[in-house]
Amino acid sequence: MQRGAEMKIPNHIAIILDGNGRWAKAKGMPRGYGHVKGCANLETICEDIKDLGVKYLTVYAFSTENWKRSKEEVDGLMKLFRNYLKKCKKISEKNKMRVKVIGDISAFDKDIQDSVTELEEFSKDYDELFFQIALNYGSRDEIVRGVRRLARDAADGKLVPEEINEKVFESYLDTAGIPDPDLMIRTSGEQRLSNYLLWQLAYTEFYFTDVAWPDFHKPELLQAIEKYNERDRRYGGVKEA
Ligand code: FPP
Repeated sequence: MQRGAEMKIPNHIAIILDGNGRWAKAKGMPRGYGHVKGCANLETICEDIKDLGVKYLTVYAFSTENWKRSKEEVDGLMKLFRNYLKKCKKISEKNKMRVKVIGDISAFDKDIQDSVTELEEFSKDYDELFFQIALNYGSRDEIVRGVRRLARDAADGKLVPEEINEKVFESYLDTAGIPDPDLMIRTSGEQRLSNYLLWQLAYTEFYFTDVAWPDFHKPELLQAIEKYNERDRRYGGVKEA
């Protein structure tokens, strides 16, 4: 088993932060408590990830489907996002971390949209960790929004259909300019993608664990990276030819 410096560190890790609700329920607490603990854990993992030398981290914080949850839970999550986005300026300064939100933020209250814009502007010159937060994100929605803009540009004569290739298409996604993830981690037992980064995960290694997100700490992260290393050694590289 490889440890520490010998391990090959993935350049980009994407995480589906799952299991906050079940984790809280198992403790006899409301689901919102799980989200608060999940949010605190995200702060710690950001530091761990940066210390390990990972350059890009993308997390699924709120999907286009999550609006269907109870009003109480959605309101609680909005409150959490509000607080976190404010606090995140300090975190980004400390970690020299550039923050970008992916997803359609036009569905959020104006103050949340303003906080996102402010945070992205504030952190835009940091380059030690690139942190993407998926908010009101769904991969199909991202692709449709991208295609809509691409079609508009084609209609306006800015590009001709024959010029459209993978590179051009990618430049219309929310993740434009961000390298594809090398490792995707989903916590809490489910083994599906739930509309997360469908295009970007085409060649990514997947790691599923039963550990709920609030309990996913540095040892679990190292275990995921170890598994990624084992596969990388077996196949001689993460990318297919
Ligand atoms: C999935 O757990 C988690 C969410 C829908 C929300 C994720 C949010 C956070 C970790 C905290 C806030 C993050 C930011 C960026 C401020 P679940 O509720 O689906 O758990 P369950 O599957 O056990 O019900």
